[in-house]
Amino acid sequence: MTATEIRNKFLRFFEEKGHQIVASAPIVLKDDPTLLFTNAGMNQFKDYFLGNKQANYKRVVDTQKCLRVSGKHNDLEEVGVDTYHHTMFEMLGNWSFGDYFKEEAITWSWELLTEVYGIPKDRLYASVFEGDEKDNLPPSTVALKIWKTLLPDNHIVFGNKKDNFWEMGDTGPCGPCSEIHVDCRSDEERAAVPGHLLVNKDHPQVIEIWNNVFMQYNRLKDGSLQPLASTHVDTGMGLERLVRVLQGKSSNYDTDIFMGSIEETEKISGQKYTAGDSKKDVAFRVIADHIRAISFTIADGQLPSNTGAGYVIRRILRRAVRYYYSYLEVKEPLLHLLIPGLAKQFSDVFPELQAQLSFVSK
Ligand code: GLY
Repeated sequence: MTATEIRNKFLRFFEEKGHQIVASAPIVLKDDPTLLFTNAGMNQFKDYFLGNKQANYKRVVDTQKCLRVSGKHNDLEEVGVDTYHHTMFEMLGNWSFGDYFKEEAITWSWELLTEVYGIPKDRLYASVFEGDEKDNLPPSTVALKIWKTLLPDNHIVFGNKKDNFWEMGDTGPCGPCSEIHVDCRSDEERAAVPGHLLVNKDHPQVIEIWNNVFMQYNRLKDGSLQPLASTHVDTGMGLERLVRVLQGKSSNYDTDIFMGSIEETEKISGQKYTAGDSKKDVAFRVIADHIRAISFTIADGQLPSNTGAGYVIRRILRRAVRYYYSYLEVKEPLLHLLIPGLAKQFSDVFPELQAQLSFVSK
């Protein structure tokens, strides 16, 4: 399956389960002072969770452009060095606003991954919140009970507040979560070391792909948790990681999401990408990652500048320039040459780049 087919299968699966397909919000946030950029699919729905606004649909599905380069969720330093963190990424999400809760969310995620996408069940692991004394939070017994009907005990792990209690920022809606991890190692490696020992241990082949958050609280400024009037579901699956798993690759950059930009950079620079750890290979990955972040953020209205959100974009832009100048020996501007290919690649889902091609390139 191509990345486009994989994205569409997600949207159709939840549409068939009564969800309305909605568009991604812009990656740039102008009306939430707690964030510089959209860092999760749930940002545009924050007021529905808090009860400040009534949702038009109780069930929604989308793919959201996210940027994790500042604040609580910041992956910038990992990007390009490893093979599975990104500045901009697409978060596939299904949402319940006061409608279904843990039972449906978990069983549908299982159905989609194993029956629709065909991921072997014995490669999947689920994590469950172990509770937290300081916040007076109980362990997630309901999620555990549901997972026990789907997975053997040694495929369920318990996680603390850092991994299994999701918060958007220092304040705002939050709740316990159940992550789904996939073990992409060879059969030999899996026989030698069981996968549950590697979940959440930064192993490049045992990676989280989906987070099911059960929104139950609002974190207030004084640090306390206020129960929400209704409970909600917020899920986030990283499209780039899912595509890598389904395309049988060991790196997100080897998928059709990034290969177009990498091949174009090879042509321009006359250098070869060898998918290794050299500075040259890191440079190819940094460029393929950063050009998406820069292009879509500018297309959504944030120009590089010397303050705030604009300065974050300028820093990403400079990091990309530094890498091609220093490690690919390209001494002329390069990034703008990648934009037409990128715009074409995403034209069916995010047409805003194609529509502003010459402005963004300039
Ligand atoms: N809101 C769920 C996540 O970002 O993982």
